[in-house]
Order: sequence, then C-alpha cells, then structure tokens
Amino acid sequence: MSRRISGFKPTGHLQLGNYAGAIRPVVDAQHDHPTVAFIADLHAMTVPHDPSRLRELSLEVGGLLLAAGVDPARTVLYRQSDLTAHSELHYLLECVTSYGEAHRMIQFKEAHFKNKDGGSGSRLSLLTYPVLQAADILLHDIDEVPVGRDQRQHVELTRDLALRFNERYGPVFTVPSTVLAPVAARLADLSDPTAKMGKTNASANGVLFLLDPPDVLRRKIMRAVTDGGTEVVYDPEGKPGVSNLLDILAGCTGDQPAEIATKYANYGELKEAAAAAVIDLLRPIQRRYHDLSPEDIEHTLRAGADRARERADATVGRAREALGLTSGRRAPAGSRGTPVTAAPAR
Ligand code: TYM
Repeated sequence: MSRRISGFKPTGHLQLGNYAGAIRPVVDAQHDHPTVAFIADLHAMTVPHDPSRLRELSLEVGGLLLAAGVDPARTVLYRQSDLTAHSELHYLLECVTSYGEAHRMIQFKEAHFKNKDGGSGSRLSLLTYPVLQAADILLHDIDEVPVGRDQRQHVELTRDLALRFNERYGPVFTVPSTVLAPVAARLADLSDPTAKMGKTNASANGVLFLLDPPDVLRRKIMRAVTDGGTEVVYDPEGKPGVSNLLDILAGCTGDQPAEIATKYANYGELKEAAAAAVIDLLRPIQRRYHDLSPEDIEHTLRAGADRARERADATVGRAREALGLTSGRRAPAGSRGTPVTAAPAR
C-alpha cells in the first residue's frame, strides 16, 4: 500500500484551502494508506517570524488536524522540529541540488521579489526550503504526496533530487509522485478569485479560516466577488468567482463542481448554499478543537515524533553512508581500533 505524507506550515491560521487541498485527502485516505502528517515549523522560519507566535500556531495547526479527523493511532502526526533528521537530510540533499534549480521555484520568486528591498534581505532559507521539503518527503520513504496545485513544482523537485541521488550514489530513496486533490485543488481568495486563498493573504476578507465564527464565514462568502451575467456555470477561466464558490461547495461535500452548478438558479442561492455548507463542515471541527487542551496536543505530537524517528534516522543513515560519511550510528561496544592519542612532543 502506497505511503503518503502531508505537511502544514504554521505561518498563519489554517484556511479552507488547506482543508480541501490537503487535510481532507489525509483524513479520507488514512485508513487505506500508511500516512504521515506533520507541522512544518522549520518552513515557517523562511520569512520574518515571531518565536512565541510560531509556538502557538504550531499547536493550533496540530489541534486543528486532530479536530478535523487526523487519527494519531493511524497517521504518524508530529512537529517537524522534533526530528533533527529533517535538518540533516536537508543539508545532504543541498549537495545534490544546483543553485539554478532552487532559483527557478515559482514560490521562491513570488515571495522573494515581493520583498520591498528587491529581495536582497530575503532569508537564504527562502531559497533552500524546497530542498527541506524534499528531505521531509524522502525521509519517510513516501510514494505519494497529496498536495494542492501550488505545491506540484516542489514535489517535482523532490523527484529530480531522489533520482539524481540514487543514480550517483546508489538506491537510497523512494521516488515519490504527486496526488492532486480530486476536487478543490486550488481554492481562490473570495475578494480576488485570480489569487490563491492563503493563510497570509494581505486581507482576511477573502480567506475562510477554519476557526472563523459562523457569522464571519457567512459574511465573507456573501460578499465574495462574482462575475458578469447571472447563470451559475462551472467555468474557471470565464467565471472565476462563481467557479471558486462551486469549488468551495465541492471541497465541503466531495461532489463535482460542474454537477453542483446545475442546482442553483442564481449567484445569491449559490452563496447561501456555500455559506451553509462551510458552516456545517466547520462547526464540529471547531467544537472538537476547543475541547482539546494544549497539553494533550503537545503530548500527541511528541508521541508521534517518537514513532517517526526510527525510519527517519535509518534513511539519513543510508544517505550518509552512500555519500561517503559514516552511518552516524555510534560504534558498537567492542568495535575494533583504539582512539588515537596525541603524538609525543619532539
Ligand atoms: P501550506 O501550509 O502552505 O499548505 C498546506 C497544504 O494545503 C494546500 N493548500 C491549498 N490547497 C488548495 N487550495 C488552496 N488555496 C490551498 N492553500 C494551501 C497546499 O498545497 C498544501 O498541500 N510547503 C508546504 C508544506 C510542506 C509539505 C512538505 C507538504 C512542507 N514539507 C512535504 C507536503 C510534503 C505548504 O505549502 O504548506
């Protein structure tokens, strides 16, 4: 059975796109696939960050994953920084990555050139984090990576690095492939349907956060930008606003957006239905989230890291040996050789 992984960056509050693009696929598949889900806190440090907010958001993301149905008895759920293997494999993989291919990553270019100083103050980790992402995936011998459309290029890089490493140094890594969510692989911002719905978008008005109260969710959806005409049809190019509302409904129900479109006579009805579906979807998740204590979440994440460690360390050990380093394991007691002492002074 193919092994899967999903990661979530605690740079802000989780939003409906994260749910539709990645959380729902994990929850739906965790009974059929060995699954790893982790909080990518090291990735949240590629842009200026506040340490106490990072700590809080990491727990919030962990709690929301649990509340949304990630089952820690099935899915290995942990926080990235609790396993040092991520950082170590990151460096080893940098040694098979070229500057040019890191520089070509679209997400890097977008974030880098958005910086007011033209990018000269961008953290170096912004350039190299796709390599960290490759390490996240390769550590766990993953076959399939369910992601939203924005992450496809990073999984392609992961494949390239795994193939290159295996070819140069021997068969160490499983080569993964991307699995796109069957529906709602890219939810758009409600106030600008050409932009992705994201945790850190400049305005919160177009972003449906998983912890938004029902009246806020409703208000945001009722004010969503729609398109010319009145007919409800699924046409992402011609009618991006309406199609996004259909994607949102589809992300909640799992139905196909083109089929959903036939049920509504006008935009107002569609908005009412989308608001009701989002509120119904999130109500039980919010209730379960508020029942969890930070201590319970912390405990669950640490137990998950303990489960993840053995395989991760074994992968790093294989990579180290293939590269000409030691396996990193301590020499067994009674191994041959004695430590060298200083040569006598002449
Ligand atoms: P993050 O937290 O930005 O996104 C987490 C997941 O949510 C998906 N997603 C969306 N899907 C549909 N519509 C949207 N508007 C939307 N916004 C986000 C993302 O595609 C992603 O699947 N770099 C990763 C975190 C990561 C990771 C990994 C993922 C680090 N290492 C290894 C998989 C495997 C990220 O973008 O997180």
